[in-house]
Amino acid sequence: MNEINVCFGNQVKQIRLEKGLTQDSLAVMSGLERSQLSKIESGLVDVQISTVQKLSNALKVEIGELMQTRDLSMHPFVKWAGGKTQLLDRLIALMPKEYKDYYEPFIGGGALFFKVKPRHPHINDMNDELLSAYRCFLKKDSCDRLMAKLDEYDKNHSEDNYLIVRALDKDKNWQANADDVERAARMIYLNKACFNGLFRVNSKGFFNVPSGKKKTVNAYDKVNFINVLGYFSVSKPVITHEDFSKAVNNAKSGDFVYFDPPYDTWDDKSSFTSYDKEGFGKKDQARLADCFRELDKKGVKVMLSNHNTKYINELYSGFEINVVNAKRMINSVASGRGDVEEVIIRNFK
Ligand SMILES: C[S@@+](CC[C@H](N)C(=O)[O-])C[C@H]1O[C@@H](n2cnc3c(N)ncnc32)[C@H](O)[C@@H]1O
Repeated sequence: MNEINVCFGNQVKQIRLEKGLTQDSLAVMSGLERSQLSKIESGLVDVQISTVQKLSNALKVEIGELMQTRDLSMHPFVKWAGGKTQLLDRLIALMPKEYKDYYEPFIGGGALFFKVKPRHPHINDMNDELLSAYRCFLKKDSCDRLMAKLDEYDKNHSEDNYLIVRALDKDKNWQANADDVERAARMIYLNKACFNGLFRVNSKGFFNVPSGKKKTVNAYDKVNFINVLGYFSVSKPVITHEDFSKAVNNAKSGDFVYFDPPYDTWDDKSSFTSYDKEGFGKKDQARLADCFRELDKKGVKVMLSNHNTKYINELYSGFEINVVNAKRMINSVASGRGDVEEVIIRNFK
């Protein structure tokens, strides 16, 4: 696919959606075949200037605006514990200006990833429900099916339906047969409808967050989904599901790795670290520090965020450590929310 066609197609689709038009109605208004419009929006065809003119008239926007490959602005499609949205400015200021491939082995909601839009991304997480959603953006067909399924969940939302959807992971038949789209739709809907946007599973691996008791749910932002689809079609992210140490095996000199692991805990503070049934303990933090050092030796640029605990400071002594203040918004225990000190650690200046 040609990058310019993809950006142009995205621009047409974004403006069409902002104006509340369906593909059918824009096809009629512009005098184009619907199938041709669909190909244009998917970035599959070169567009003639006469076609651009027709679309600009139908959408009532200047040709210049239509041709502007608007900066694809994206944001996380799930609310994720430990999400880095409020530290973004600090992280961006501290990350390298130039690098080859981008690795984010604890991708979670991907706040930094969606902000930076790296050209050659490798993303990874141990949570395969979450990855099923990322994989849906690799193909237009699966992204369309995901949106349709989420529309259905939103429309049928009720307390009873929440419980039915939540219980699907206990249904052996569903577990055996659900594809990425179905898993992703369930995960995103539950994330938006549950209490406090938490993804938490019990010791058996079943999602167990209570309902947020919302009257209505808007599980996704259509323009954001379309932008993610467009970005993925150009950047073709490598998406893996393995332990962080394996996910960075191929990182080479000049690449950039950003580690945002589950937090180390203070003994006296309650923090959320159990994204999956195994959890992430002190030994894992030590394994991660070893991995950080290995990458450093290979000439990879590495940045890591964590709580400002004594243990983390000891593990990374000798590296560049910046202390920053952050607000913890998601915690099952209210006393675990509020201001906390975090560190951003780097092997470069
Ligand atoms: C702090 S969150 C990442 C938050 C993310 N940066 C964001 O902006 O939303 C940590 C993530 O690490 C994942 N994780 C836990 N153990 C892991 C492991 N051993 N290897 C890779 N990922 C792991 C969790 O599933 C979780 O999504």
